[in-house]
Amino acid sequence: MPFPSQKRVPDIDSGTGRREFLKFLVGSPLLATFGLSPELLGQSNAQLLTNNELITAVGDALNVFDFEALAREKLPPAHWGYLASGVEDDATLRANRDAFKNYHLRPRRLVDVSHVDMSHTLYGDTWESPIFLCPVASQKAFHPEGEIAVARAAKAQKHLQLLSTVTTSPLEDVNAARGMPVWFQLYTQGWEITQSFVRRAEADGCPVLILTVDQLLPSQNSETGFRFKRLDTRNCIECHDPNDGLKNKRMFDGANLQVRNPARDYLTWDLVDKLRGITDMKIVLKGIVTHEDARLCLEHGVDGVIVSNHGGRAQESGWAALDSLPEVVEAIGGKIPVMVDSGFRRGTDIFKALALGATAVGIGRPYVWGLAAFGQEGVERVLEMLRLELKLAMMSTGARTLDDIGPQTIGKF
Ligand SMILES: Cc1cc2nc3c(=O)[nH]c(=O)nc-3n(C[C@H](O)[C@H](O)[C@H](O)COP(=O)(O)O)c2cc1C
Repeated sequence: MPFPSQKRVPDIDSGTGRREFLKFLVGSPLLATFGLSPELLGQSNAQLLTNNELITAVGDALNVFDFEALAREKLPPAHWGYLASGVEDDATLRANRDAFKNYHLRPRRLVDVSHVDMSHTLYGDTWESPIFLCPVASQKAFHPEGEIAVARAAKAQKHLQLLSTVTTSPLEDVNAARGMPVWFQLYTQGWEITQSFVRRAEADGCPVLILTVDQLLPSQNSETGFRFKRLDTRNCIECHDPNDGLKNKRMFDGANLQVRNPARDYLTWDLVDKLRGITDMKIVLKGIVTHEDARLCLEHGVDGVIVSNHGGRAQESGWAALDSLPEVVEAIGGKIPVMVDSGFRRGTDIFKALALGATAVGIGRPYVWGLAAFGQEGVERVLEMLRLELKLAMMSTGARTLDDIGPQTIGKF
């Protein structure tokens, strides 16, 4: 159901705004004035018309942006804004996307690519493809089945799922729906609560603890998010506790909120060492973007890193995740896995990161668009489409396995 009072504001993340602008241009005398045709702008009239129609069935999607358009239509403004927002001017959000344009694939011909194997092994588990589902908070804000629908999709498609501390479904239920324990993402909340989260994740078999280190003050400057919130006229008290915002946040059930410290001002290397002392889970740091911090990860015995700027929603660095990947890869020198996320929307995007040395690539918003649009089916379709696109990129560059993807398979403009 489209949300009736939703007002349109310009898109910030994808092709939709561009498409609307192009459609306007096609019917505008401006085109003739400047001697331009729709074809010169990269799209035919027929494509423009098709692109502007919202899909009505999961099978109609041609790419992940088709789910984005429908998600935007279906979600209440505040929820859409929360999902879409970066911080401040959304410059980092845009930089994440723009960075892919600086690289091209180097197609190879006449290679036998009748068998392409995208499988890879991480910490002893083998996955069908290197694409994983990033931790995204509050998934019931996007679909009533939230994290459970995502877990079922991850199970059906055999993908790795990371679960947020701010899950709206109990961790244990998500693990049951996934059919195996997910990787648990940790936002520290003061030592006492942090320890209880770690114990709970470990008790339910989670093999990996992801400590997110890039967001010190959550959502303080999500300006786009706040603007969308103002358009939302619903009464939100039923779902959001005005005091602490923790209603329906299932990790906090039974937690002693008196000792909570959500400010994360004590998020230092000491905390990493303390975590090492209380858990046998692998520890992965999410949000590492510099070679200095990558080296410190090795010094502190961290088991893996995720190069990430939180999808452009942590701080306005203006620095694309893809562009920070090479220096982290170099500093880590193959000693531990280097994963990456932020801005990945196409199989070719994923391919470029793998060529730059990433072990695996995470997606955040794209699978949530699928979730909002069609629940579990939408998430599954997003994964299928990205896998197919990655396979096509591998075939065109003569890569039969992930090991065949390397610096020789891409070029920089
Ligand atoms: C709505 C939303 C909520 C998120 N919540 C979390 C979270 O709880 N923990 C976390 O580590 N990252 C969180 N992230 C960041 C994602 O894990 C991931 O880094 C990011 O979405 C990747 O960028 P992409 O959305 O462009 O694919 C969130 C991202 C979004 C869009």
